[in-house]
Amino acid sequence: MSTKKLWGGRFQAQAEAWVDEFGASISFDQLMADEDIEGSLAHVKMLKKTGILPAEDCDKIATGLENVRQELHDGKLHFTVENEDIHMNIESILTDEIGPVAGKLHTGRSRNDQVATDFHLYVKNRLPKIIEEIKIIQKTLVQLAEENVETIMPGYTHLQHAQPISYGHYLMAYYSMFKRDVERFEFNNKHADISPLGAAALAGTTFPIDREFTAKELGFSEIYSNSLDAVSDRDFALEFLSNASILMMHLSRFCEEISMWGSYEFQYVELSDKYTTGSSIMPQKKNPDMAELIRGKSGRVYGHLIGLLSTMKSLPLAYNKDLQEDKEGTFDTVKTLLPALKVFNGMISTLKPKKENMRHATENDFSNATELADYLATKGIPFREAHGIVGQLVLQGLQTHKNLQDITMDEFKEISPKIDEDVYEVLKPEVAVERRNSLGGTGFASVRKQIADAKKKLQ
Ligand code: ARG
Repeated sequence: MSTKKLWGGRFQAQAEAWVDEFGASISFDQLMADEDIEGSLAHVKMLKKTGILPAEDCDKIATGLENVRQELHDGKLHFTVENEDIHMNIESILTDEIGPVAGKLHTGRSRNDQVATDFHLYVKNRLPKIIEEIKIIQKTLVQLAEENVETIMPGYTHLQHAQPISYGHYLMAYYSMFKRDVERFEFNNKHADISPLGAAALAGTTFPIDREFTAKELGFSEIYSNSLDAVSDRDFALEFLSNASILMMHLSRFCEEISMWGSYEFQYVELSDKYTTGSSIMPQKKNPDMAELIRGKSGRVYGHLIGLLSTMKSLPLAYNKDLQEDKEGTFDTVKTLLPALKVFNGMISTLKPKKENMRHATENDFSNATELADYLATKGIPFREAHGIVGQLVLQGLQTHKNLQDITMDEFKEISPKIDEDVYEVLKPEVAVERRNSLGGTGFASVRKQIADAKKKLQ
């Protein structure tokens, strides 16, 4: 049997301890202890300001809460399952410290608006750090791109050599993805930044509370205009999990590529010893564990998104205990994201491109085929026809083990008298890359422009 509950008045029997254990959230929601105390402090200040409670009581409660906060930071608080969650644990500790006056704190408030307030604050408070970490990665990418504008590598579609590109261009593609991530997390704040406090259980309260005051105290820029929505909305958390999932997907794609590019078959990049591990049996191994782990962890973040979406689906208004399931996945997402971002940044800033191998890979393929087709088109041959001509040359080249640049002038002339000596220049991979200066293209000037714009944006 467990001890008497704060809400135990109407109960004749008490739940068994193991049932309490099942219902309790204190094992995880203690992560919101700071936010809970902050919310209570704002609430009690409002109770004083509005005269709902005598000033003297409010002062006692506020001082008590400050002390509890200090004890929390000193690691002196002891939470119990009997007190179910962080809200009732803090209230019970406050009662132990200042006596029954602590019971007045909950005037005009419910745990439903309390937990929603705490959770909003929790998400809102974590956004800046995440945004900061993404921006560090963006800066690294821009710096690497700057060093590699003229590093030539094969560009792929369908994982087949497509056209040569600048490695700097490739890096700037990821810069752009992370830019959208930053924007998404910035927008995330819009919906996290709404105060549910004062919605009470579901319907508001008869006490003359001042929701503007508490919202301002807590730094919220908006207030929920409907109490039912205020206590049951978790969109801000879903948006957070969705943003986190997309971010993890971006990290994962890069990780997949560098794992692949570090393999014997590619040998385009080499990961630093600091971000790789060896094998317990195969002495030659250098495994991209960190990249794989980031790739792997994207799965658990997606899981948290799907988990909360499933919890929310079919939930009738307003608060239901199901909503207690909103927290662990969100907390774990923060716990996963921050170190993943940090490791990712360390890994890419120490990543060495093997420029020779990258370039070499563009010479032994037909990734300059489009160049030749474009060349013929500029000489007046309709592009479709030019495409067909080059297709035949590729087939012939495959059969005779010859690349396009190895075809002799006589052989070219047989195909089309319009082909001249200047074709060999056009077929060089760096020339192919350099010339692609259409807006957003891989041309050196275009990549330099992307870098310059990014630098301005990151300042
Ligand atoms: N621990 C609860 C949660 O996380 C707090 C709100 C409880 N409210 C209630 N009516 N049981 O959702």
